[in-house]
Amino acid sequence: MQPASANLPQHVAIIMDGNGRWAKQRGLPRIEGHRRGVETVRAIIDATRALGIRYLTLYAFSAENWQRPADEVSALMGLLEYFLRRETKVLIKNHVRLHTIGRIDELPAGPRKELQHAVAATRHFTDWNLVLALNYGSRTELADAACAYAAAVVAGREKPGESSWTTFSRYLYTAGLPDPDLLIRTSGETRLSNFLLMQCAYAEMVFSPVLWPDFTKAELAAAVEEYQRRERRYGLTAEQIKAGTAPTAAAINR
Ligand code: FPP
Repeated sequence: MQPASANLPQHVAIIMDGNGRWAKQRGLPRIEGHRRGVETVRAIIDATRALGIRYLTLYAFSAENWQRPADEVSALMGLLEYFLRRETKVLIKNHVRLHTIGRIDELPAGPRKELQHAVAATRHFTDWNLVLALNYGSRTELADAACAYAAAVVAGREKPGESSWTTFSRYLYTAGLPDPDLLIRTSGETRLSNFLLMQCAYAEMVFSPVLWPDFTKAELAAAVEEYQRRERRYGLTAEQIKAGTAPTAAAINR
């Protein structure tokens, strides 16, 4: 079953969770779960594009994930480098622009260079967008944005005493990207884990019990259908929405 093409989310963000449990259930080392997780990443990038969803953000490595055992961190960085080396030509072939969010300059040189290459090689594409959240945390993002905004005020590029979300959000890592419409978390956990807290202010959330390595295009389609059944009200009443009153961007982004 394919979801209806009307009312598709423009931007889907995914917390890919459950790789470790998937491996444990099979008596395998955790890294095997991450390896299978990479195959799911490839399948879901294709499935998202096939559905007509223009932006996909994947939470691939959080700012907190550095605290995992050193061999797991190093294996994840190796998988990222391997993924980029193999996948950049596929992104180019499919006209997918790669974006990154997070403190990329703190990543090891190997994956960082592959990322820089892939971002530069795809920067002219506009139709499809893949956003990798790497060394990402919402609180760090907000702190970095506040510093950058304060520096802009000091430099006279922003006016002191004036505040709006439209202006401030230009200092987030996600500047220029639309907010997620649909946030999916796999593996049955129902928390946001410091992921896009501001950007998901109006996102619909779907929590799937399926572990990430087992997540398929059918589960993605089911989450999109669930999204299509929801009524997004942005602070208006159900009656206003039924009468066709559209929420204004000015009210949402005050
Ligand atoms: C959460 O599962 C997953 C991660 C911390 C890493 C996600 C990484 C990948 C899917 C592979 C690398 C990605 C790319 C884009 C190349 P978990 O380990 O916390 O699982 P658990 O909760 O079952 O232990």
